[in-house]
Amino acid sequence: MKGFKVVLFIMAAAIVALGTTAAYAFHSGGVAECTGCHMLHDAKSSSALLAGTDVSSTCINCHGASGASSYHIVTPDADMPAGTPPGNRTPGGDFGWLKKTYSWSPRTGTTSTSEGDRHGHNIVAADFTYAADGTNLLAPGGDMDATQLSCNSCHDNHGKLRRLSDGTVATTGAPIVGSGSYSTQVLPIPTGQAYGVYRLLRGNGSTAGSGGKTFTANFNAVVPSTYNRSEATTPTRVAYGAGTSDWCATCHPDMHSGTSSKMTHPINQGLSADVVANYNAYKGSGNMTGTVATSYDSLVPFQTDNTADYAVLKALAVNDGTVSTGPATSDRVMCLSCHRAHATGWDYMLRSNVEGNEFIAADGVWPGTDSPSTIAAAAKYAQGRTVAETTKAYNDTTMHYATYQRSLCNKCHAKD
Ligand code: HEC
Ligand code: HEC
Ligand code: HEC
Ligand code: HEC
Ligand code: HEC
Ligand code: HEC
Repeated sequence: MKGFKVVLFIMAAAIVALGTTAAYAFHSGGVAECTGCHMLHDAKSSSALLAGTDVSSTCINCHGASGASSYHIVTPDADMPAGTPPGNRTPGGDFGWLKKTYSWSPRTGTTSTSEGDRHGHNIVAADFTYAADGTNLLAPGGDMDATQLSCNSCHDNHGKLRRLSDGTVATTGAPIVGSGSYSTQVLPIPTGQAYGVYRLLRGNGSTAGSGGKTFTANFNAVVPSTYNRSEATTPTRVAYGAGTSDWCATCHPDMHSGTSSKMTHPINQGLSADVVANYNAYKGSGNMTGTVATSYDSLVPFQTDNTADYAVLKALAVNDGTVSTGPATSDRVMCLSCHRAHATGWDYMLRSNVEGNEFIAADGVWPGTDSPSTIAAAAKYAQGRTVAETTKAYNDTTMHYATYQRSLCNKCHAKD
């Protein structure tokens, strides 16, 4: 551990000199210092001389550090005792929610449960007691074996995919000079250089290891460089571009309306004029006084057009509220309009609570077992969560909707 901290420090200095953004750079958009993940003589895993018992444990060694900020996406168990939520508020979400099971009694004599397993992608990480999903033995709507799910099912541990200066994505070509995730990236990419792909995600030509899937879709997006933050005053706007839904459908083909013969919610298609009008006018249940200039809501994001033009995406990726424009009919509904990618405080990894209670907020506040409002503390609204847990599950977004607010499906459909 001590050895690679020193290395990290040196890497960080080098990257600052290159003019890229991350203060504690490690991957810098591509393959990182080998010994950050591999132990050449005292490894914990024989299969690839890994620093952890398995792939995900190797990643969580760093990504599961204490302190909710930056690249941390797994809150350590000790930092989230009962009643205390996982702390990270990244766009993908904190895997710590997988350890949170809630039970409550909506009516006398009945018990409802929101199992930890249901809250996200159950990556297998033995060193941190994360185990495969107990119910989903396969990816729903697909055939991937859930016991094989790990960080590198979705991310390339070696980060070989790159965006070249002509916009193409390939595993070889010009050297990667930095992360391609952030709004600080210099565009156009100078000739002879390349950026890593968004979040080192797998894509066309990047094949996951054993039990993994072969991706053909690339995930295009840009995020502000400060992305693990409270959304109380302004949202963290990820500009999602082309390919995001097809990317998820790599493992969930039957959840995608374009590839499935099943009846499933429309995915990756333009929003109708009605949906656009709803989204832009909707401020809360019954309140349709909003305007397109300020209607963006990070709890209900949409894909920008079908674009892989990073200049367009970069201009939208802000966290200071300066770009709050809502959608047009060229924008699209995507999997991440409703879900996050890692885990959330809600069942099915949804961005907001759509289940089991008529109101997601009551008496003007987020509900919770310990709410000062007896209405908002009612078991059917609190659903076993403390106010802190409910609030954190919304990335600390201030409850700015209606006093009695119904599900956020209404942001697009306005049925309330
Ligand atoms: C971010 C963590 C990480 C870094 C940094 C990293 N590796 Fe790996 N590497 C892995 C993981 C995880 C596996 C196992 C993949 C699997 O089993 O699916 C692996 C597997 C390997 C393998 C065996 C399988 C294969 O893909 O060929 C080799 C060889 C390897 N790494 C070399 C390197 C070298 C050389 C470097 C430095 C230039 C490096 N790795 C940096 C995580 C990393
Ligand atoms: C030695 C510590 C360390 C290990 C081990 C590690 N990471 Fe990271 N990771 C970091 C740091 C620091 C950052 C932020 C700076 C950067 O992106 O270089 C980061 C950033 C990332 C990002 C965002 C990168 C971007 O450009 O947007 C992803 C995705 C990621 N890591 C995935 C992984 C995966 C998957 C593994 C395991 C295969 C892993 N990391 C192992 C330290 C680590
Ligand atoms: C099912 C696919 C999947 C798995 C498994 C997965 N990730 Fe991610 N990860 C993503 C996607 C997609 C994003 C981009 C999310 C966004 O911007 O909305 C992301 C984002 C990230 C980020 C940037 C911060 C954030 O949350 O937005 C980090 C760091 C990261 N992942 C690390 C990891 C590590 C470490 C693991 C394993 C413990 C892991 N991921 C497992 C798909 C996955
Ligand atoms: C590499 C394959 C892979 C990719 C890519 C992937 N998933 Fe999954 N997903 C799985 C597996 C395996 C499971 C079953 C295990 C589990 O539920 O933890 C699963 C489960 C789920 C669940 C059910 C969660 C629950 O517990 O009920 C949802 C929702 C989901 N995925 C959404 C997505 C979305 C949205 C994306 C794109 C951001 C995505 N998946 C990308 C493999 C994948
Ligand atoms: C309009 C919102 C919405 C969109 C868009 C959406 N989902 Fe879902 N998804 C849900 C809801 C709500 C549930 C839980 C209830 C249900 O299954 O109807 C769910 C459940 C799931 C499940 C768990 C199913 C199970 O049987 O356990 C998976 C997997 C999943 N979604 C993946 C995806 C993927 C992949 C996409 C994009 C191709 C996607 N979803 C798009 C709202 C959405
Ligand atoms: C980001 C916007 C968005 C969100 C959020 C959203 N939808 Fe939709 N929904 C659409 C679009 C787009 C269509 C396609 C019809 C249209 O454009 O008017 C659609 C269509 C539907 C349809 C009709 C499907 C058909 O084949 O006729 C139903 C039912 C529906 N949505 C339910 C839901 C539910 C339930 C939720 C919440 C879990 C939800 N939607 C969330 C955008 C959204």
